[in-house]
Amino acid sequence: MILQTNDLSKSFGGLKAVSNVSLGIKENAIHSILGPNGAGKTTLFNLITGAIAPANGSVHFKGKEITGWSPDKLATIGVVRTFQRTSIFRHLSVLENVSLAIRSRRGLNYKVRISREVDDSVNEEAFKCLHDVGLDKRDGILADKLAHGYQRALDIAIGLALKPMLILMDEPLAGMSRGDREGIADLILKLRNELGLTIVIVEHDVGMVMKLSDTITVMQHGRIIAEGAPEAIREDENVKKAYLHGSFAT
Ligand SMILES: Nc1ncnc2c1ncn2[C@@H]1O[C@H](COP(=O)(O)OP(=O)(O)OP(=O)(O)O)[C@@H](O)[C@H]1O
Ligand SMILES: [Mg+2]
Repeated sequence: MILQTNDLSKSFGGLKAVSNVSLGIKENAIHSILGPNGAGKTTLFNLITGAIAPANGSVHFKGKEITGWSPDKLATIGVVRTFQRTSIFRHLSVLENVSLAIRSRRGLNYKVRISREVDDSVNEEAFKCLHDVGLDKRDGILADKLAHGYQRALDIAIGLALKPMLILMDEPLAGMSRGDREGIADLILKLRNELGLTIVIVEHDVGMVMKLSDTITVMQHGRIIAEGAPEAIREDENVKKAYLHGSFAT
């Protein structure tokens, strides 16, 4: 397992948002977390990525304990979370957005003067990230002017600038058209297949989750109620019950 949580728990007041969650993520897998609203999926991400501290339990990455590490520190060992467009500077170009992330990773942000050589190497690396997400021909466009689907791709490129081994994505397909969703789903597959990344996704689009995932973990009321391959999850009685009042249309 590249990432492992053990008995991770967090309560808000009397509510057990995440309760004794032990989750193992295999290297180079696409692993999705499903569950009805309020199941604890985002809280689990927040616990793994250091946005909130767990009441108890631990998180290990490649065997090293990383419980409570800050997002910056996690990025240095290759654990990166993407947000929905919140990391984009809207009034900078597509290329500048990615270059900034690379400068930040290399500790160059506060340097007043950067040699031509370093500047070129930052841009070269930024172009490679843009190429990986299919945005290399849109490098000069203002981020604000990018179509919705491309903004999500830019968000992913900014994540790639941090050289991740594992990316956690909270609802990467939310609020997008069918066509854009398929584009991002293809991109997620490419990141796994061609760049060798491990990807953990929280997503409500059950159909896409079924298509993309190697493994699915289903949560309800803060606990894991089922885990397995998509076909097994589709037939799981606990999962059907959890979705009884919602939709589990595949
Ligand atoms: N900061 C907070 N303070 C108090 N309660 C919280 C906080 N964050 C989450 N909760 C509660 O914890 C529970 C789990 O929330 P969480 O956001 O993790 O669910 P989720 O599975 O991501 O849901 P959704 O699918 O709607 O995004 C919910 O009942 C929620 O109201
Ligand atoms: Mg959520």
